[in-house]
Amino acid sequence: MFKDPDVFDIGREPNPHVGFGGGGPHFCLGRHLAKLEIECLFRSLIQQCERVELVAEPRRLRSNFINGIKEMTVRFVPAGASA
Ligand code: HEM
Repeated sequence: MFKDPDVFDIGREPNPHVGFGGGGPHFCLGRHLAKLEIECLFRSLIQQCERVELVAEPRRLRSNFINGIKEMTVRFVPAGASA
């Protein structure tokens, strides 16, 4: 579906991901709320943080059912911290 599926590319357009389901009868009912919450979270984060740094390599979930990240430790660097 995606040219570089393993690359984190926040600007994909179009982005027909199936994170909330595939559009079928059980398509996530809370997807609009979830997207709004995630947008609020990142808006608030970029106001307070200069950057978010990866502290260790993420650990992936080992599953034949769900693809995901099990653990990803990051450090929040507050705005103005590196001045
Ligand atoms: C990032 C957050 C979320 C993700 C990744 C997510 C993902 C999903 C996925 C993959 C499904 C199954 C879709 C399918 O089988 O086609 C689903 C179903 C559902 N989600 Fe979400 N969801 C999220 C947040 C929410 C929220 C905030 C609510 C409610 C406030 C919600 C309510 C539901 C309900 C009720 C269903 C079942 C719909 C049905 O079976 O007809 N979800 N979600």
